[in-house]
Amino acid sequence: MTARSNADTLITVYGGSGFLGRHVVRALAKRDYRIRVAVRRPELANFLQPLGRVGQIHAVQANLRNAASVDAAARDAHVIVNLVGILAEGGKQRFERVHTYGAEQVALAANAHGARLVHVSALGADDNSPAHYARSKAAAENLVQAAQPQAVVLRPSILFGPEDDFFNRFAALARFSPVLPLIGGGATKFQPVFVGDVAAAIADAVDGKLKAGTTYELGGPEVLTFKELMQFMLATIERKRLLVPLPFFAANFKAMFLQFAPSPITLTPDQVEMLKVDNIVSDAAKAEGRTLQALGIEGETVEAIVPSYLWRFRRAGQFRPKSA
Ligand SMILES: NC(=O)c1ccc[n+]([C@@H]2O[C@H](COP(=O)([O-])OP(=O)(O)OC[C@H]3O[C@@H](n4cnc5c(N)ncnc54)[C@H](OP(=O)(O)O)[C@@H]3O)[C@@H](O)[C@H]2O)c1
Repeated sequence: MTARSNADTLITVYGGSGFLGRHVVRALAKRDYRIRVAVRRPELANFLQPLGRVGQIHAVQANLRNAASVDAAARDAHVIVNLVGILAEGGKQRFERVHTYGAEQVALAANAHGARLVHVSALGADDNSPAHYARSKAAAENLVQAAQPQAVVLRPSILFGPEDDFFNRFAALARFSPVLPLIGGGATKFQPVFVGDVAAAIADAVDGKLKAGTTYELGGPEVLTFKELMQFMLATIERKRLLVPLPFFAANFKAMFLQFAPSPITLTPDQVEMLKVDNIVSDAAKAEGRTLQALGIEGETVEAIVPSYLWRFRRAGQFRPKSA
């Protein structure tokens, strides 16, 4: 029997039109896979097609809250990647429905169609977290592992890259606000990881290079506090803003109102809860070789990548000399 080529291997990517999704689709297309992107609004995923050959990438409709649509999108797939996630609840998009119920439906569909599963969770997923987001991500991991013990689970720290929701959001805020809050004093630690590096790890998992039934924790090469990240962002966009420490109780109170505000001002009580815990790779993951670096991906630094897209928040854009 001859081995199946990548060109004959169909990968269904749930959430393939998102921030991480587009980088995953690009990485898989480069490796010559056939890619089916499953999203709620496939007509908004057409921008992915130039990332591959004619006919290599196509989008179908699937809503993780609807089991039949999830199953239909898994049909004939050899490997399934689940990237669907929401940062905040709104309308019918509830954490339990999208993260937990949805992830279980994807795992069941993968089993039903004999496909391997790569599930993307998040660093900080914790059954006992006070944050709804973190609990729903942990519950999803439990259901995925129960349904398909061989599934590979990847937990990234905060992602950065041209379309990120972190640096872009705070830089947008800094454009009009003279002060930026340092929630909880800004001491929370992060291990920001480049979206392209996480996409490469996911593509390696699709290749079958990661250990089945294993949970990997993906962080970049440096650990930085929230305050250091804000200072770096302000230096990059060449704006001086007051960084004002805001105790957690005050941030919680503020979030009760700001959860209804539009981006970039929006802040939910759940996000405040998440900021109480460091978002870094555990010692256990490092000791057991369940990290990005153990996969042979050193990881890009924030300084190497972020200035290449944050320049648009400078007063005069890309070409103004720093000293002017
Ligand atoms: N961004 C980060 O810093 C970060 C950090 C750690 C972990 N993660 C995890 O990484 C994954 C990808 O994150 P991301 O930043 O790329 O998110 P994103 O940009 O918001 O993309 C989410 C994707 O999910 C799809 N989606 C949302 N609700 C859906 C539903 N009910 N049914 C089907 N598809 C749905 C969206 O497409 P439609 O809206 O068109 O359906 C989109 O393609 C998520 O699991 C997230 O929790 C992200």
